[in-house]
Amino acid sequence: MTTPLVTRLARAEAAAIDDAVRLLETGGLVAFPTETVYGLGADATNGEAVARLYAAKGRPAFNPLIAHVADIAAARALARFHADAVRLADAFWPGPLTLVLPKAAGCPVAELATAGLDSIAVRVPHHAVAQRILAGCGRPVVAPSANRSGHVSPTTAAHVLADLGGRIDFIVDGGPTPVGVESTIIACLGEAVLLRPGGVPRDAIERALRRPLADPPAGFAGADDAPLAPGMLASHYAPRTPLRRDADRIEAGEALLAFGPKLAAGAERAASVLNLSERGDLIEAAANLFSHLRALDAAGAKCIAVMPIPRENLGETINDRLSRAASPR
Ligand code: TXA
Ligand code: MG
Repeated sequence: MTTPLVTRLARAEAAAIDDAVRLLETGGLVAFPTETVYGLGADATNGEAVARLYAAKGRPAFNPLIAHVADIAAARALARFHADAVRLADAFWPGPLTLVLPKAAGCPVAELATAGLDSIAVRVPHHAVAQRILAGCGRPVVAPSANRSGHVSPTTAAHVLADLGGRIDFIVDGGPTPVGVESTIIACLGEAVLLRPGGVPRDAIERALRRPLADPPAGFAGADDAPLAPGMLASHYAPRTPLRRDADRIEAGEALLAFGPKLAAGAERAASVLNLSERGDLIEAAANLFSHLRALDAAGAKCIAVMPIPRENLGETINDRLSRAASPR
């Protein structure tokens, strides 16, 4: 058991950014917004801080973390970039893309943060608050999504407080995160492989690479024995309420997660209804996904029925998260 902490929350003004930097430099745990979701930051070079971070999240220690830095130059001190990696970094950084790369010799990131792998996940976020914190720290910051392990990722400071209040030092409130789903993860160890669909759609990546992306090895996404990207555990993004996908008919007492202008048959019987995007916009739907799932989860319905979401573009990411949220645990 760890002693409860007093978790302070402050708006992302200059004083709060300074406090966040000072806390990170002294081994504290600070949640802050990125363009994708809120991250729970710790000094990546401080093994003890990283250990406290795992404990605060309740995360299995085999699950490696993403090292966040302010720019490509800082990323090069952590990892080796081959041609594909350079192309992707040039095209999408800063932004919602994470690259899994061979660790550089002399990489200062604590072994615990990379779970003993010889690869490292690196990301340069674009959000102004994340940028100011990372530039202020001048060292890599590991930041998993700022939720308890297995819960839905947080897209507001209130979500972070609900999950991690009393377990972390500080939350920097920068408002709702604009993208709303986590970064796309591409491994550039050999051939570029899509490990996790995310905020950058597959076709944008393929255009930058000028060829199709390879899928992860078969069986990989469901494996729980140290899979390549352990966050891909089948039931990773899980509300407590069971989820029913591709619902075209709503049963009495179900909560409805809708998409588009036309509601599914029986929608009037739903206990509560939230629409990911009334105008059927996949970008808006991604931004609303986790907060709507949390809200419907709290509504106490017997089931959350989710209308079909198209699979193109960010729809691939949304459907990926929904299939994990629906998977039995
Ligand atoms: O958008 C995001 O990426 C957010 C924000 C806060 O930056 N972060 C995030 O972190 O989603 P997390 O820890 O929830 O997810 C990181 C994923 C996990 O699935 C982890 O297994 C995978 O990255 N990962 C980290 N290092 C890896 C490595 N060396 N090889 C393969 N997968 C790795
Ligand atoms: Mg996560």
